[in-house]
Amino acid sequence: MKTMNYFRKSLALMAAAALFAGCSSSSSASSSASTSTSSAASSTASSTSAATTEVYSIGLAQLVDHPSLNTIRDAMFDEFSQEGYIEGENLKIDYQNAAGKTSNLDSIMTGYANDGVDAIVAIATPTAMSAQNYADKAPVIFSAVSDPVAAGLVESLDAPGGNITGTSDEIQVEQIVDLMLQLTPDIKTVGMLYNPGEANSVATTSRFKEYAESKGLTVTEKNGTDNTTMQQAAVELANSVDAMFSPNDNTVATGMVSLAQVAKDAGVPYYVGADSMVETGGFATVGINYEDLGRESAKMTIDILNGADPATMPVKVFKEDLNVYINEDVLKALEENGKTKVEVPAEIENSENLVKVTATE
Ligand code: TRP
Repeated sequence: MKTMNYFRKSLALMAAAALFAGCSSSSSASSSASTSTSSAASSTASSTSAATTEVYSIGLAQLVDHPSLNTIRDAMFDEFSQEGYIEGENLKIDYQNAAGKTSNLDSIMTGYANDGVDAIVAIATPTAMSAQNYADKAPVIFSAVSDPVAAGLVESLDAPGGNITGTSDEIQVEQIVDLMLQLTPDIKTVGMLYNPGEANSVATTSRFKEYAESKGLTVTEKNGTDNTTMQQAAVELANSVDAMFSPNDNTVATGMVSLAQVAKDAGVPYYVGADSMVETGGFATVGINYEDLGRESAKMTIDILNGADPATMPVKVFKEDLNVYINEDVLKALEENGKTKVEVPAEIENSENLVKVTATE
């Protein structure tokens, strides 16, 4: 099994980044450049040299609190400071959370535009789609958008074309379906559960369906648009299929603990699109490390604050270094009274990419 090592930036690199930020900041270019040059000459680089550089302001908006988006946000905050951008010194972050209501997003973005922030950072697809409307006011960096092309955010991953770019957590549906067939080889029908109002989920489920059907599975779906309707949909679905699948859908992730309970009670293996959803009661997935994605989102933001052009900065797609996540408690429950046979083949059991998860309830 794998262990993950997150903190890899050296102090020297951080100091260099802080100095570089001072030298290349756009407005007040000549004065801040001479200030940071002299401070570099007279003293060794320290956090006080960062305080003399321009103060950047960013609006950082998050759709809702769920474990994965919180991991991304926390990693971004941490990465900013590791790169020498210290809140209250040379960085101002206006963090806003839409509390799961897309209707809150537009007023958050209007606020950022009125304040004249230097960049808007948007976590999750609905947030990014709202921020896009303000890309003429400030560059937009999106984080964890499953399919930026399908969401209409960029022209292409390599050449975004507008004042907007960011990171993508493109779901590897082929690997997830293959995992389903390895862990639960007898399944014939799969029910997809998602919110059709989320562009990320629509894109992922259509790719999932196509590949699953090519493997001989019959794919159905039920939808919900909030916790209540999603719960009802889960109950109906769990009673009619051999296995369930949810992509990394923000509405599902928010209600995951009780949705997972529905699947568990029905003895149905519930496959999901993100590690956090396995941690909150889903059965298994193949997925990325969202802390890495958060850190990369922060780095792209810093580059753009320092003058890089989003239009030509490729979207960074996280689809390598994937892990297989299996919830051990759910595995045990399915082995004891699941609807279908469950087995973890030696190939997976012995894989160094296997992460065994114990449910947090
Ligand atoms: N990819 C999702 C989107 O595009 C956001 C997201 C990131 C997410 N991690 C997740 C959703 C985990 C559900 C679970 O909106």
